[in-house]
Amino acid sequence: MEFDHAKAYKAWEVDGKYHGDGREVALLEYIYNHPEVEQLRGNPAKVLQAIDNYAQSVTGLINIGETKGAIVTDVMAQHKPSTVLELGGYIGYSAIMFGHAMKQAGGTQYYSVEKSPLFAAVATSLVDLAGLRDTVRVVVGTGAEGIRRLFDQGLLRSQIGMVFFDHHKPSYTADLKLCERLGLIGAGTVLVADNMILPGNPPYAKWVRATVADKRVMDQAAEEKGNPDLEYESRFVKSFEPSGQEDAIEITKCLGEA
Ligand SMILES: C[S@@+](CC[C@H](N)C(=O)[O-])C[C@H]1O[C@@H](n2cnc3c(N)ncnc32)[C@H](O)[C@@H]1O
Repeated sequence: MEFDHAKAYKAWEVDGKYHGDGREVALLEYIYNHPEVEQLRGNPAKVLQAIDNYAQSVTGLINIGETKGAIVTDVMAQHKPSTVLELGGYIGYSAIMFGHAMKQAGGTQYYSVEKSPLFAAVATSLVDLAGLRDTVRVVVGTGAEGIRRLFDQGLLRSQIGMVFFDHHKPSYTADLKLCERLGLIGAGTVLVADNMILPGNPPYAKWVRATVADKRVMDQAAEEKGNPDLEYESRFVKSFEPSGQEDAIEITKCLGEA
């Protein structure tokens, strides 16, 4: 797929900052002061369009964007996950896009874990505006804290349909292994990991692409244990950041225990 440069986001970096410099609160004000805010209510596509417009004309945002997002919604239409766990929610762009796609495919619960309470508050407000408050639940915490809390509360106990990794890059492997240990990954679970080129994630790629035999050896030496018996089938899909830079997503299907 080609990148449409007419839709490019502005550069993320402003005075050395990529986020957290007031742009997320400014986005919320922009959206609620939008001349067509009443038409945005209950309309995920229009809320996403308004967020894109802000990032194209005011300040860049670290959202997955339309191009990479379309790859993930295709995966969701094919696999029809009934529950989704997202790690790294930011201002709710992917939660709105994928929560809506999950609902359309018959799914019921989307958990979006976000470390920053401020970003989580913005996401909660935009999810509500998009009409997805019954589907998308925003959880404040690190990936590991969110997974454990949802598990302890009994909200995530059995196999998850899809896990979307888009948070702290060095935590992808540790948080996947935590899900594996808790029995949340099984035959049919799809793992989607963003930013596999920008900046890339060699330890995660190594784990999801390894054979069961190799993972058993890797797991013995590792401090953080996973479930090496889970067999994965993984593919690397090239695409573009919303700024137009090349990036890729790793899409991994769990085939069950060997
Ligand atoms: C690239 S953004 C997520 C973008 C979002 N998924 C989207 O496409 O709309 C990464 C987010 O992960 C959050 N984050 C960073 N470290 C985290 C961690 N350990 N656990 C959960 N979230 C984290 C950041 O605050 C940031 O909002």
